[in-house]
Amino acid sequence: MAITIKTAEQIEGIRKSSILAAETLKYLAQFVKPGITTGYIDQKCEEYIKDHGAAAATKGYNGYPASCCTSVNDVICHGIPGKYELRNGDILNIDVTTILDGYFGDTCKMYEVGTVSDYAKKLMQVTKECLRVGIAQCYPGNHLGNIGYEINKLAVSHGYSTVYEFCGHGVGLRFHEEPEVPHVAAKNSGPVLKEGMIFTVEPMINAGKARAKVDRRDGWTARTIDGKLSAQYEHTVLVTATKPIALTDIDGEFVF
Ligand code: MF3
Ligand code: CO
Ligand code: CO
Repeated sequence: MAITIKTAEQIEGIRKSSILAAETLKYLAQFVKPGITTGYIDQKCEEYIKDHGAAAATKGYNGYPASCCTSVNDVICHGIPGKYELRNGDILNIDVTTILDGYFGDTCKMYEVGTVSDYAKKLMQVTKECLRVGIAQCYPGNHLGNIGYEINKLAVSHGYSTVYEFCGHGVGLRFHEEPEVPHVAAKNSGPVLKEGMIFTVEPMINAGKARAKVDRRDGWTARTIDGKLSAQYEHTVLVTATKPIALTDIDGEFVF
């Protein structure tokens, strides 16, 4: 399978789904506080998506049981919502993928539970900047690898490391399409970007070592091997002739 170029009609559908995914993340912010379980957040997530005529792409995906991923502290990604009660000082990632009228939108962001340390705040800020420098590379004629090249360069300049075992991905008509979007890559490597491509950029940045290990009991939860913090931000990005457009950026934070 090659990288699909989306039609104008498909782009409109993916745009609507992306906006809903982003609105879901915004809606969930009110529930993020000490004492709330990640399972409760998942319940509110499922309700909100259904109330808007859509479905959560993660539910039942390769056996994944929930409507979002909730990844706390040293969890890199794919944390399964459940009985865990959020605690003051935790950092939480919520990752939501919606299916609206058959189109997929995928986005995630970080939340602070109560008051968090400056150490955690800085990791989250830098990770968001990593997403920004990655998206800035999404223009026609550029190599896909330059996304990961710029992300990892910024992460390393702050003493952090970039997770290489999980990647961004083409998205829109299916959950995970080609291409795979690595967040660490050699300069000018990989396929050449073209107008009409849609994929995610979703860097996971670790305060310590880059390696991830997946929980043997649940088969999903990916944690840092050294127990140090990890942060992630994700947008669904459209390549256009003139500039990258982050379809899930409803706040206009990533305008180029
Ligand atoms: N939304 C995640 C991504 O950005 C994928 C989650 S797959 C799941 O690609 F099965 F863990 F939910
Ligand atoms: Co994704
Ligand atoms: Co996602």
